[in-house]
Amino acid sequence: DRIPTFGRTTAKPSEDAKMTGPIILVAGARPNFMKIAPLHKELVSRSLDVILVHTGQHYDTNMSQIFFDELGIPEPDIHLNVGSGSHAVQTAAVMVAFEEVCLEVDPSMVVVVGDVNSTMACTIVAAKLHIPCAHVEAGLRSGDMEMPEEVNRVLTDRICEILLTPSPDGDENLRKEGTEESRIHLVGNIMIDTLFNNLAKVDADKICESLGLEKAGFCLLTMHRPSNVDDEATLTGIVGALLQISESIPIVMPLHPRTTAKLNEFGLMESLHASEAIKISEPLGYLDFIGLVSASRFVLTDSGGIQEETTALGIPCLTMRHNTERPITVSEGTNKIVGNDPGKILSEVEDILATGGKAGQVPDLWDGKTAARMVDVIMANLENRK
Ligand code: UD1
Repeated sequence: DRIPTFGRTTAKPSEDAKMTGPIILVAGARPNFMKIAPLHKELVSRSLDVILVHTGQHYDTNMSQIFFDELGIPEPDIHLNVGSGSHAVQTAAVMVAFEEVCLEVDPSMVVVVGDVNSTMACTIVAAKLHIPCAHVEAGLRSGDMEMPEEVNRVLTDRICEILLTPSPDGDENLRKEGTEESRIHLVGNIMIDTLFNNLAKVDADKICESLGLEKAGFCLLTMHRPSNVDDEATLTGIVGALLQISESIPIVMPLHPRTTAKLNEFGLMESLHASEAIKISEPLGYLDFIGLVSASRFVLTDSGGIQEETTALGIPCLTMRHNTERPITVSEGTNKIVGNDPGKILSEVEDILATGGKAGQVPDLWDGKTAARMVDVIMANLENRK
């Protein structure tokens, strides 16, 4: 099942499409799908020839297909079926398969999103084949090179021609690294396009009812970072904090497959199941998840994108990491960085329960129109190269 499957399923563009070859849009893992949905739609609406490539980094139905269905993303034209593996195995598998695709398709541009292994792998392939590459969500930096995503971000931005940034801190980071000004384009946050495009479809009452939760009466928790879940002592500490929090407020935890595996491996799953106030679920689809975010009292997470969605929705967020590549969610939004020390997590939760938590504002250009600004930049680049 590691052989790429070829075959277009999306319509060919109109005759007057202004370009020399198709644009390849790449997605691989769950956090990519909400970023490609509005971009794919906008590219197609401008009569550009788009080929959608799914690397298969995430492959479970509720880590992948559900997002295509809910967000109206067409079936990928090409599926690389790479699956899981160590970082080297996964990255290499994407590179080998994606090189074949680029040689066959001869694209005018490759567009990658986010910071996952698929993002970096496809960028390296494109750069070495001299195919211009655009990076959606460029410039974000946590400063923590122990995070695999930080390595992916730095390498991707170094070799992508077009850097599409979500916020001014991204531009500043790129400047500090010596990036030419002409490559940097501040366009805003595309996740917020998806959020605004789908809010009307979200039924918070329904998902709360099905999980037995009262609106504004629960904590929503997600965690999957290796730094939180791979180390037994760290994960044991976090679980201890969650059990204590659940004495004050119910917690709902949609579990990433990595987290489920680690909780089982360390014998921690039973204690969570034993607490009546902790509800564990499978990973959720986009609409149910956003329903829970919007109805929660606060969110505890180690995700990147959820720091942004909580800021956009005005829901207090505690981020269980020591840093963030999304500092604007702290300086302007509802986010607070709390690390993974159980005592610190507990005191911050107590503060939220007592005070209601941090208020914030939605950053500039998180306005639902980012995809249009991105495609303006992409089209201008194609036009210049003709
Ligand atoms: C990846 C991204 C991370 C992102 C996260 C969101 C990298 C380096 N990391 O981490 O930035 O926040 O996705 O989910 O790219 N698995 C399944 N089913 C799946 C996918 C994964 O069971 O559909 C299991 C596999 O056992 C796999 C493990 O989850 O080994 C981890 O998956 P992997 O793609 O390696 O990284 P994530 O932790 O998901």
